[in-house]
Amino acid sequence: MRFDILTLFPEMFEPIKQSIIGKAEEKKLIEINLINIRDFSKNKHKKVDDTPYGGGAGMIMQADVVYDAYKSIKGKNAKVIYLTPQGKVLNQKKVEELSKEEQIVLLCGHYEGIDQRVIDKIVDEEISIGDYVLTGGEIPAMVLIDTVSRYIDGVLSEGSTSEESFSHGILEYPQYTRPEVFENEKVPEILLSGHHENINKWRRNQALKNTYLKRPELLKNIKLSEEDRKNLEKIKKM
Ligand code: ADE
Repeated sequence: MRFDILTLFPEMFEPIKQSIIGKAEEKKLIEINLINIRDFSKNKHKKVDDTPYGGGAGMIMQADVVYDAYKSIKGKNAKVIYLTPQGKVLNQKKVEELSKEEQIVLLCGHYEGIDQRVIDKIVDEEISIGDYVLTGGEIPAMVLIDTVSRYIDGVLSEGSTSEESFSHGILEYPQYTRPEVFENEKVPEILLSGHHENINKWRRNQALKNTYLKRPELLKNIKLSEEDRKNLEKIKKM
């Protein structure tokens, strides 16, 4: 998977070169290519924005500069995503879908926005990372790269994405490790039993309970087995 990032602040992407994503890049499982939009300014002062037609506050990134930066990217089948609070809010289903792309171009806005004409011309999809406003699209772009990269083969250890929160539409069960007793709190007995079937049942029940208590709205979107339904009724009465 290749990510091409159109940004005015390429230095902001340093943090994503660390840890798991940094290693994935070293192993060439993903490629992160930063394009500085300012390099395509036609102005001797390297200006990339101007005041809005019709008046109003702030500066608007210019269409021709952004377009030239976009045209410098190699590859024909790239999906172009504009990070904006006006986009559809990112969720795990969308993340999984995006992980199947070969190449993703991420357009990061700054200031009051980008001239609509270039958005209309190059953008395939607008994505938001939540209903709040950030100062630019760089942090949202990093969020997207991080979460999508986890689904690329070899980035995480096998099975890591299939057993986690949201992968089955509900939250995770609680996890424990040594020591067996911590501050007088013992690990749930069942986890020491070695009885895998019972452990799996217990974990499913805990995941349902967690979801019911913390994010009950998620339960509306998933298919529950008859056993799940019975267990959920018991949880609701607790
Ligand atoms: N740019 C500014 N705020 C944003 C958000 N919430 N999501 C994506 N891009 C943004």
